[in-house]
Amino acid sequence: MLKHYLLSPGPTAVPERVQLAMAAPMIHHRTPQFSRIFAETREMLREVFQTEQDPILLAASGTGAMEAALVNVCSPGDVVIYVNGGKFGERWGKIAQKHGLVPVEIAVEWGEAVDPAAIEKALAEHPEARAVCVQASETSTTTEHPVREIAEIVARHENTVLIVDAITALGVVDLPMDAWGLDAVVAGSQKAFMLPPGLAMIACSEKYWRLAEGARCGRFYFDLLAERKAQAKGSDTTAWTPAVSLIRGLHEVLRMMLEEGLDKLFARHALLAEAARAGVQALGLRLISKRPATSATGAFVPDGIAGGAFVKYLRDKMGVTFAGGQDRFKGKIVRIAHLGYYDVFDIVIAMAALEMALARFGHPVQFGSGVAAAERVLMRRLPEVA
Ligand SMILES: Cc1ncc(COP(=O)(O)O)c(C=O)c1O
Repeated sequence: MLKHYLLSPGPTAVPERVQLAMAAPMIHHRTPQFSRIFAETREMLREVFQTEQDPILLAASGTGAMEAALVNVCSPGDVVIYVNGGKFGERWGKIAQKHGLVPVEIAVEWGEAVDPAAIEKALAEHPEARAVCVQASETSTTTEHPVREIAEIVARHENTVLIVDAITALGVVDLPMDAWGLDAVVAGSQKAFMLPPGLAMIACSEKYWRLAEGARCGRFYFDLLAERKAQAKGSDTTAWTPAVSLIRGLHEVLRMMLEEGLDKLFARHALLAEAARAGVQALGLRLISKRPATSATGAFVPDGIAGGAFVKYLRDKMGVTFAGGQDRFKGKIVRIAHLGYYDVFDIVIAMAALEMALARFGHPVQFGSGVAAAERVLMRRLPEVA
């Protein structure tokens, strides 16, 4: 027997009460029962997106909502500026190309955050750009980009929208869509939303909807104007068959998030991230990111250890699933996730597993050093004895 621990940056662990909600008997999606769940879900989602707009649900993975965000506001030939600082940033360029858009890349060193001045410069060179696309959290490099500062710059351009991939940021860090003026915010179910994969969420600003009126890029399934109409109050269903069970699960997830409270939710994530960074560094590992994400902590595996084999050993022999690296980081890094259904002892397990695996791979380790460093931070989450 091998007990499994899922500590990857998506899919993430699904809480028991969410699993139970999803196990409820199937209902039809054109019924008052479904519409009630849908309407309540939409209202709670607005709180989590921190917007007056109605977030839209799509039966898709996160990439579907990234594509929807672009094609619903663009016409072929439109310039799209995108930040490419990792695998997911790169994806904006690929989507844009497929739809006959003109991608303008802002290349960022992997592990670094984009300098907002680079956005300003690109917009000065391409004032006609229809969209600026960025990851709030670039999961492949465990790095956060300065979304708020970027939003201030894009807001000065009345015909340019800011599209934010918040797939590993929403529900992790404070990302107040309306207050910061974000025009499209994209999220996915299998991250901080603590659900299985298959549901994407997107909320769009008034500016976005204004520009969407004239957008001519091809789309059928991902027609956000059609979804907006179907999902609006009073209609309360989706244009196409929704992921009914995932929406039931989302309803429960949102109750959990709002019961905890957004401030406490963000504080928990920040603390777990701080503890993970402390633990990893105490083990002598070097962090990948110069501006580390709150969703996951990435570190280079020590020289002489094959990262792929290391992550595989942890998963197959120890039951602990971390993520390895992609593309140029393949075989070089380990990424430990702490977004969603995670708390103090998940980090303790992660650090203990990391230490033991390092030792097994012949790396000199002082047992307990990573755990101890993490615990010193994690103590702040334990209340005083009454
Ligand atoms: C930041 C980011 N963007 C996009 C995606 C792609 O989402 P999906 O795999 O759900 O299509 C991911 C998934 O890991 C992600 O972390």
